[in-house]
Amino acid sequence: MLDGSMDPSVLCALSGRLPGGNAGTLGSFTPSEPRPGAAALARAGPPAEPNGRTIRAVPDVHDPPADSDLADLTFLFSDIEGSTRLWETEAGRMRVALDAHDRLTRDAVVAHGGWIVKTTGDGAHAAFERPLDALNATVALQLALADPQATGGLPLRVRCGLHRGWHERRGNDYYGRDVNRAARIGSIAHGGQVLVSQAVAEAVAGALPEGVALKDLGRVRLRDLSSPERVHQVLHPGLRADFPALRSLESTPNNLSQQLNAFIGRESDLAEVARLLREHRLVTLLGTGGIGKSRLSVQLGAELLDRHADGVWLVELAPLSDEALVPQAVAGVLGVKEAPGGSVLDALLDFVRERRLLIILDNCEHLLAACADLAKRLLRAGAGLTLLATSREALHIAGECSYPVPALTTPRPQPLAAGGPDAESLSRHTAVQLFVDRARGALPAFRIEPRNAAAVAEICQRLDGIPLAIELAAARVRALPVTAIAERLRESFRLLATTDQTVLPRQRTLRVLIDWSHDLLAPPERALLRRLAVFAGGWTLDAAEAVCAGDGLEADEVLDLLTLLVEKSLASMDLDTGRYRLLDTVRHYARERLVEAGEQPALRDRHLSPFVDQYGAFEF
Ligand SMILES: Nc1ncnc2c1ncn2[C@@H]1O[C@H](COP(=O)(O)OP(=O)(O)OP(=O)(O)O)[C@@H](O)[C@H]1O
Ligand SMILES: [Mg+2]
Repeated sequence: MLDGSMDPSVLCALSGRLPGGNAGTLGSFTPSEPRPGAAALARAGPPAEPNGRTIRAVPDVHDPPADSDLADLTFLFSDIEGSTRLWETEAGRMRVALDAHDRLTRDAVVAHGGWIVKTTGDGAHAAFERPLDALNATVALQLALADPQATGGLPLRVRCGLHRGWHERRGNDYYGRDVNRAARIGSIAHGGQVLVSQAVAEAVAGALPEGVALKDLGRVRLRDLSSPERVHQVLHPGLRADFPALRSLESTPNNLSQQLNAFIGRESDLAEVARLLREHRLVTLLGTGGIGKSRLSVQLGAELLDRHADGVWLVELAPLSDEALVPQAVAGVLGVKEAPGGSVLDALLDFVRERRLLIILDNCEHLLAACADLAKRLLRAGAGLTLLATSREALHIAGECSYPVPALTTPRPQPLAAGGPDAESLSRHTAVQLFVDRARGALPAFRIEPRNAAAVAEICQRLDGIPLAIELAAARVRALPVTAIAERLRESFRLLATTDQTVLPRQRTLRVLIDWSHDLLAPPERALLRRLAVFAGGWTLDAAEAVCAGDGLEADEVLDLLTLLVEKSLASMDLDTGRYRLLDTVRHYARERLVEAGEQPALRDRHLSPFVDQYGAFEF
């Protein structure tokens, strides 16, 4: 039940919600904003070039060059370390220092041919056509900031990250994986440190100005949970050189695994739940299947590592069917073992007592009572413990704060007479961003064009912005034009509208979509999908071959079929472990198909063979 009027705990989430759905929290320049001119430059004093020369005062501009649409750009993200604390303790001086900081940043960027994309309250996002210009601007900025007098006597330590690559321009802003990656690289730096990606390091190799060098810091895992990035620190005699270890994913213990694709949007959800987790020790992300609760929880875990010195630990409960095993599942993840004569629960309570931990209980809905009971005990035992649960239903314990996870934003239906949606306004919607990202994964040349824009908008609307449904539809772009996908969906929904009216609209949408994806599978793919439902907690290729082959499926076909299911987003593979899994919603669907096909007795027998037993749990 997600009705805020019925459940007071929901109110804690809604009261602080920002208006405007998923709107970002970053400020951006507007044409009316005052820009510093020559006078401001003179006041600040001209920053020095990395090679000692002074940079020239240039007219202030922030608009990107007209042809920056297609160019491969280099992005700078900067951020003042400890700005929250400075605002709390030195508000007056901070205001002056921040003004100076903004001015120095703009001056350094503009003097090197770049432009400010937006300011972020305590940092900036800038873009450059040439990587070397970006690097020189950043060094110039750091050199200028190295003198505390430049910021009114309050020293500001700014972390900076540079990365170059693909982007999508909307108005004066830039979006896309490489833009996000630049921000992530900046976020792991320490104040005063400049980090550049491998792509930037390669681009500037051999062209570095005198005195500037790069130090290879190796491959690090970023907090977007994407594949590791090799980063380099910029060295200059005028800048600090030694810093503590990077603030990467590895710097705090955790078991968050690398994600295969980009996390899209949800800036305000991330900010809001992070805020709620400061005030409440149990926050439950609520929502229908496939809405993105688990993915949001993992992303939050990565973002909140700094708050939890003893780690962030994700406990996947979806594969568990026995309530009594919930404490074991948590203990297993934390590496806690019972003392001789004691219970696992006692050992767990003992473990959390003195630690600062965030435990994510993922997919609690089928084990509500056990999760509620364990949560109560854990929270009572450990004052430094915070719990984040994901569930289709609240745990209903005292102190719980529920946060209904909204769907991604979708474009409004437009009358045909309006000429259809344009690519730029469509791309503002996070459902469209997800569709495009996943479609590009299947077909790299995919982009929104006038001939497919209306169909993309229609797909996202019909699928109610449910991420799982959108992923399943987008995975089809290699085989079907988007107009055909939209047409087939229209047909499926027409059929549905005349049949089952009892199911909630969102659940119906997802059901139609999974049905639809299933109907498009070839018979051997369908057979494999339904048989994979016997694995409760994921499986290896060997196990799938041993258990699922037979009755029309050859063992040596399994790998190819599995690959096809992964390509169609019906199954996924964990890069770290090489194990495969079905999302919970898909697995339930596959299980129904298995029962319908009458295959479960044969599957159970094959699964129980001693050879296969070691690979994964069988569940029915
Ligand atoms: N913000 C997002 N960015 C990118 N992908 C997302 C996002 N949200 C969800 N997804 C993807 O959509 C799919 C469904 O999301 P998820 O598994 O988090 O849903 P859920 O609400 O936990 O569903 P269930 O109730 O079945 O557990 C996953 O493949 C996930 O990676
Ligand atoms: Mg989930």
